[in-house]
Amino acid sequence: MLERIEEIRAEAGAAIEAATSSAELEELRVRHLGRKAELTTILRGIAELPAEERGKVGGAANGARKELEALLEASAARLDASELDAKLLADRVDVTLPGAPPRPVGHAHLIARTTRQIEDVMIGLGYTVAEGPEIEHDYYNFTALNHPEGHPARMLQDTFYVQSQPEVLLRTHTSPMQIRAMETQPPPIFVIVPGKVYRRDSDATHSPMFHQIEGLAIAEGITLADLQGTLLALCRAIFGDEREVRLRPHFFPFTEPSVEVDVSCFQCGGSGELAGGERCNLCKGQGWIEILGAGMVDPNVLGFVAEHGYDAERVQGFAFGLGVERVAMLRHGVPDLRRFFDNDVRMLEQFS
Ligand code: DAH
Repeated sequence: MLERIEEIRAEAGAAIEAATSSAELEELRVRHLGRKAELTTILRGIAELPAEERGKVGGAANGARKELEALLEASAARLDASELDAKLLADRVDVTLPGAPPRPVGHAHLIARTTRQIEDVMIGLGYTVAEGPEIEHDYYNFTALNHPEGHPARMLQDTFYVQSQPEVLLRTHTSPMQIRAMETQPPPIFVIVPGKVYRRDSDATHSPMFHQIEGLAIAEGITLADLQGTLLALCRAIFGDEREVRLRPHFFPFTEPSVEVDVSCFQCGGSGELAGGERCNLCKGQGWIEILGAGMVDPNVLGFVAEHGYDAERVQGFAFGLGVERVAMLRHGVPDLRRFFDNDVRMLEQFS
């Protein structure tokens, strides 16, 4: 019996020490120390042995069990550590490898980009940016901008009205924010207003919804020369350093004098001719491209905000309004304005 115990101890001990995985170790534990193991059976049978053998056999069997248990514990610790090492090794991330190819996340729409570009230039000139409501009151869209009721200039803009509320409309321009901005702060004021505007109009160069940027500068001593200088800076930033601007007389109800502003053509450089001698198609041989409307703010307009500190005898200023789609079309050679709003990514992604 003692020999057999010694055999089990030696055999199981060697197997435990040679085990290469915790799964194998668990199997050895069950085989050699489990309920059905030979050593367990011997230990259980000790009580039935003749009295003189009990002590020796019991001591040997218990010693063997203790030794095997200790070996199991040591092997388990050894294997756990090396299995963790192996796992960490296999899991290793090489942080120096190039990352996964970036997923395309899209980009701002050309109209948004053009708007931001203009905003950046104007912020650089000291203007703040304000936004206003697209659903507007007749008072701000027309009356306070010197379009008296029944004035024919109201007919020039094909306005969408709210049927049940004849005083409420979709703003036809960003100009109503001139009044709203002046109501919120006294002069001096230097503000631009980007936003959507609406007119009953639809063809290659008109869309029922489009974008404008309004500009308003009111302070003491502002002149038409300031308007020209400001627009020159803006046009050069957008269309190139070489550009010139010219002002032509025009009419707007809310400015006096009113002007239309042309920028020298950035395709032919203002000559009206292309390198080969043929007529420039962008400016139609004119050398100038009409770009926006502007003027000196009419004292009547300031009259509507007189109680907010706008005394037409003391302050004056200019205003301008430009169409963002028009700038983007000219700048990028887009032939049809409706393409901006078809949302065809093949068209839009050209301007990333
Ligand atoms: N509101 C005008 C329009 O939509 C554009 C405009 C012209 C705005 C002259 C102005 C301005 O501020 O001074 O046609």
